[in-house]
Amino acid sequence: MKLMKACIAGLALVGLGTPAALAAGGTMPLEKGDTPLPDWEFDGVFGKYDKNAVQRGFQVYVEVCAACHSMELMSYRNLGEPGGPFYNPDDPALTEALVKEFAAQYMVDEVDDFGDTVQRPARPSDKFVSPYPNVQAASAANGGAAPPDFSVIVKARAGGADYIYRLLTGYPDAEEFDSENRLHFDDDHSHGVLTQPAGLYYNPYFAGDTGGNWEGDPRHKPPGGYLAMPPQLSDFRVEYADGTPPTKEQLASDVAHFLAWASEPKLENRTSLGMAVMIYLFFLALLVYFSYKQIWRNVEH
Ligand code: HEC
Repeated sequence: MKLMKACIAGLALVGLGTPAALAAGGTMPLEKGDTPLPDWEFDGVFGKYDKNAVQRGFQVYVEVCAACHSMELMSYRNLGEPGGPFYNPDDPALTEALVKEFAAQYMVDEVDDFGDTVQRPARPSDKFVSPYPNVQAASAANGGAAPPDFSVIVKARAGGADYIYRLLTGYPDAEEFDSENRLHFDDDHSHGVLTQPAGLYYNPYFAGDTGGNWEGDPRHKPPGGYLAMPPQLSDFRVEYADGTPPTKEQLASDVAHFLAWASEPKLENRTSLGMAVMIYLFFLALLVYFSYKQIWRNVEH
């Protein structure tokens, strides 16, 4: 019976340990005044994507972020694959038509029979067209900082989707700045004035140092840094067809959901395979235990 108990305890450990371990990697400290983080459905052992959130987030990406951020590793056809925003297992023809129609809005270069470069509408097999032709153009258009590519951004940043959500919703509101673009801090953490450098935007979640522009006790300088991206989201920035109220927080959570899917589109396969393997191992352990009992039944040991 000892073996049996060990097997069960082992299984329970593996089952319970995984979500805790995953969560530990990503969670940011909740500071005073922080709103709670969304409850991501893709975290944990049974992780899967909320299809509606992925669809809405895709809309936010296309209508807002795609003006600056590329997704070079994505092809248009990926949008119709399981978990993707256009995926519809009941109607593959519709999925295909939607992907084709979406791709055809973009133009890509092609070399024709005479060796000339011509443009044609994109096809599902083409990679996402980038908003800028190269990184120099991207940074020149954005005050010297190129907007990072979004193909694997959720995997590439500590904190993953939590970080994206916090960054997008973390900018101070416009009314918090005085007429000289300064923020006045007067709370338990810090007392002082922070000047926002021209062309940069203060965000408590962006890695950096606020010390240089802080008038106050240096030990209590505000957390975070300045980035070249102005605040992007506000209530009603996007209109949702499914009736979900498009608050700033909702838009941020949806776009983070979409970016999480883009960074790991095969997550659902992985979690369901993982579960099948666990069940298989459990029955294998039972089988081994009972065969052991059977074989040693009449043997003194
Ligand atoms: C007007 C152009 C523009 C738009 C639109 C835009 N961004 Fe950005 N974004 C930038 C630039 C520029 C940077 C680089 C900032 C820096 O490094 O100082 C950036 C950086 C980021 C970063 C990375 C921060 C890091 O850790 O390096 C994230 C995440 C991000 N943007 C998310 C978004 C999302 C999500 C949207 C759509 C809702 C969006 N951005 C729309 C210009 C833009």
